[in-house]
Amino acid sequence: MKTQVAIIGGGPSGLLLSQLLNRAGVATVILERSSRDHVLSRIRAGVLEAGTVALLREAGVGARMDREGLPHDGCFVSDDDLMIRIDFKALTGSTVTVYGQTEVTTDLYAAQDAMGTTILHEVSDVVIHDADSNAPFVTFTHDGAPARLDCAYVAGCDGFHGVSRKTIPADKRQEFEKVYPFGWLGVLSRTPPANDELIYANSANGFALASMRNAALSRYYVQVPLTDRVEDWSDERFWAKLQSCLPSDVAGTMVTGPSIEKSIAPLRSFVNEPLRWGRLFLVGDAAHIVPPTGAKGLNLAASDVFYLYHGLVDALTKGDATGIDAYSARALARIWKAMRFSWQMTMMLHRFDGEDAYAAQMRKATLLHLSQSETARRDLAENYIGLPY
Ligand code: APR
Ligand code: PHB
Repeated sequence: MKTQVAIIGGGPSGLLLSQLLNRAGVATVILERSSRDHVLSRIRAGVLEAGTVALLREAGVGARMDREGLPHDGCFVSDDDLMIRIDFKALTGSTVTVYGQTEVTTDLYAAQDAMGTTILHEVSDVVIHDADSNAPFVTFTHDGAPARLDCAYVAGCDGFHGVSRKTIPADKRQEFEKVYPFGWLGVLSRTPPANDELIYANSANGFALASMRNAALSRYYVQVPLTDRVEDWSDERFWAKLQSCLPSDVAGTMVTGPSIEKSIAPLRSFVNEPLRWGRLFLVGDAAHIVPPTGAKGLNLAASDVFYLYHGLVDALTKGDATGIDAYSARALARIWKAMRFSWQMTMMLHRFDGEDAYAAQMRKATLLHLSQSETARRDLAENYIGLPY
């Protein structure tokens, strides 16, 4: 097989990159390790920056998002019973859209099917060869048979556990990592959301987040020790913990019900530099991970795709390599600012086991300042709605 851009990974990064490239006349083949059902069963954050919304529209996948996505003009940050409204619209002129990552991925698969793009599922043994030459190729196993894909460029969109990052020799790259001593236990339930807007809650009992998918579907999280397992958390225990973290009037009026999904995710900050080795480019979670506290994961993947898509189109259709040469530095500049924001939000809102009394006072002071200073709220809003590309 032969194509222009071989894309490893059929998550949101790989699908969006492929879709934009195809619309610009560039051929792609996507190699995905899992089945489509498996990719679509993963539940991830659901907040899209205006830049991500614009890029999805540009990719021709905006119709359902525009119909079903919920525009949010603001969110709340709380500290016990203190509710702090962050008015994105008034502070920045922009808003975010609540639309689940699963829906984004579903829409991208439908668009890629309509485009006739080759997406091979359940491929294994993916190896990227000669990425530092002018003739890279990828070998893999599909339907029990060995296969080879020749290409001009390789896009590594295969997530944190993929092969692309590890293809770059260790002496040609650097990893930066911070692992947090807790995870998020997430629950999806067919109940109306506790509040019209998201609530990021700090409390004496730790962090909680009240989010949603639509008027009848809620998504909630509480922080849990990394040693906890999902089986440790009955629905009753989850709701009691959540209600002990949310402001009491919200906790007192919210509707609870059976969970329809429950999972624990560890929190991590991670960046690999650079994002390029020869003709191989890293995109999305293959290159960086943020803790979910600022909902930046999918949005950062989208800005990576934006830079790389323009660079690859210029290189392949105009023979202009400026964009691909600048890709790593341009994407990393934005990535590090989102790393900083996600880290700061995480530190502001979570209780760290074994922390001293001083740390808790720092969080209280930060949140009190946020409630009293429009400048502080504008800074949060500016980062939350997404820094410019
Ligand atoms: N070969 C082929 N495919 C692979 C391999 C491999 N060796 N390893 C992983 N994959 C696939 C995974 O099965 C997955 O479908 O790559 C895909 C990567 O998808 P994601 O992990 O969703 O990463 P990405 O597309 O960059 O999306 C970023 O997803 O993880 C969230 O918070 C993140 O919202 C952000 C978004
Ligand atoms: C979610 O709805 O799943 C969600 C929203 C915001 C976050 C993280 C997760 O910061």
